[in-house]
Amino acid sequence: MAQHTFLAGSDDWWRTAVVYQVYPRSFKDGNGDGIGDFSGIIGKADYLKSLGVDAIWMSPFYPSELADGGYDVADYRDIDPRIGSLDQFDELINEYHSRGIRVIVDIVPNHSSDQHPWFQEALEAGPGSAARERYIFREGRGENGELPPSDLTSHFSPLAWTRVPDGQWYLHLFAKEQPDFNWDNPEVREDFKKTIRFWCERGVDGFRVDVAHALAKDLNPLPSHKHFGIDAIPDDGSDALFDRDEVHEIYAEWRKIFNEYSPARIAVAEAWVPHVRKFGYVSKTSLGQIFNFDIALAQWGADTYKKVIDDNIAFDKESGNSSTWVFSNHDVIRHATRFAFPPGTDDNEWYGKNRFDPQLDLELGLNRAKAGTMLILGLPGSTYIYQGEELGLPEVLDIPDEDMQDPAWERYNHEMKSRDGCRVPLPWTRGGSSFGFGSNGSHLPQPSWFGDYSVEAEDGDPESTLTMYRAALALRRELNSGDSMKWVDSPANTLHVDRGNGWHIVTNFGQEPIAMPAGELVLCSAECDGGMLPGNATAWLKA
Ligand code: GLC
Ligand code: CA
Repeated sequence: MAQHTFLAGSDDWWRTAVVYQVYPRSFKDGNGDGIGDFSGIIGKADYLKSLGVDAIWMSPFYPSELADGGYDVADYRDIDPRIGSLDQFDELINEYHSRGIRVIVDIVPNHSSDQHPWFQEALEAGPGSAARERYIFREGRGENGELPPSDLTSHFSPLAWTRVPDGQWYLHLFAKEQPDFNWDNPEVREDFKKTIRFWCERGVDGFRVDVAHALAKDLNPLPSHKHFGIDAIPDDGSDALFDRDEVHEIYAEWRKIFNEYSPARIAVAEAWVPHVRKFGYVSKTSLGQIFNFDIALAQWGADTYKKVIDDNIAFDKESGNSSTWVFSNHDVIRHATRFAFPPGTDDNEWYGKNRFDPQLDLELGLNRAKAGTMLILGLPGSTYIYQGEELGLPEVLDIPDEDMQDPAWERYNHEMKSRDGCRVPLPWTRGGSSFGFGSNGSHLPQPSWFGDYSVEAEDGDPESTLTMYRAALALRRELNSGDSMKWVDSPANTLHVDRGNGWHIVTNFGQEPIAMPAGELVLCSAECDGGMLPGNATAWLKA
């Protein structure tokens, strides 16, 4: 077994980190079976070093039947053999750590896969058994228990209950292959602590905690029909399923474990909760950081962005959080495409109606994506980059129905967005088998134009998105210091940030060029000639 390596450093490294999200099955296929894997990720360590990221976050790589792209975990302390082995995991950690890049893993504590040995045991052991107590089993209603225990809906199926052959029903807030754990059960708690230690010991630098706000539930009485969404969650912790205060008792135990290491292991909550409830997750006795999705959800425009930035900076000051600015991830439409949507569009519905005939101005989308990225990279806090966005990769909108893998696609009768379009394997070369993703095809079909966005096509091209990202990340290291920022007055529909250390960030959200403010121009997301900043562009200046 390879030596476990730990990366030294300050406890605060995460506060300003640029974190690159790897979706392992779609990043790089090292052995030609069409599925991305650890050997692919190891082989691209130099690429990510040259990009200039501080850390990678890997979405789940655990054994899984892939009912939800790996967020259905069958064994929390092992590796999907299609992705690699524990030995290769150690090698991956070594390769990244030796380049100064940290590694964050995804932990999925709300639910397991129905293939998890505990769930299989629960099925066999039958009603009333201790094995069933690790999950949420209930008797049905109706004369013979033929009706579900409640009419609760799930994210990925019309009903959050599925019946097993002996007549009981189990709860799943997501797909039926994702049974929810019973977090009141001490065995569940102990097992997750063991899992956390297991990965900490193997050298991981932190965890992204999946649906972190759902673990603690009050099922007495059973909650019924549900509209999922942040607006449906009350701001006093009184919801039966989401964001209950008790969830922080679980995280307090995890935090003790994280703090046994040096630097302390980090944890970032994926928790869709009202603003006032975010404080709980970022507390020093809880996970410590919460994802900020606000800018990803905001409409393009100076006023909307300014409000999001002000609100989050104020929250960080008050709470001790450090924002995770982010535009794209494995759940949303890639921002180069999203920014080309007509104003006011509901991404979900747009996708269902228009994907085969999109009629989008992709050039506009890409300009805004680059400008937006340079703006968030200039803000105090941390930034998350989703694999492929450094290439300006658009969403793949024409995946045939029969190739779709996302459970949400079926759930919403093909009328709402599928998340497969942002999970298409990356193009590394202009041509060749699966554009360099692997030697033998890819598990989701890539479009013919993919090669134009490949690393090979963009590498060294002064105009490419990749070149801009590399330059921006290198400069950010040099320019970023302190967490102060203030607004400078600027023309309508523009924003001007003064970082207080000579670094200025100016974004023009409009269409018409504006005069470039004073200072030395160090980077521009577009061609900036003649002292003008074009529309839909961001400039970095040194005063
Ligand atoms: C999170 C993940 C998403 C997954 C869901 C259920 O929202 O980001 O991909 O489907 O949790 O685990
Ligand atoms: Ca492979």
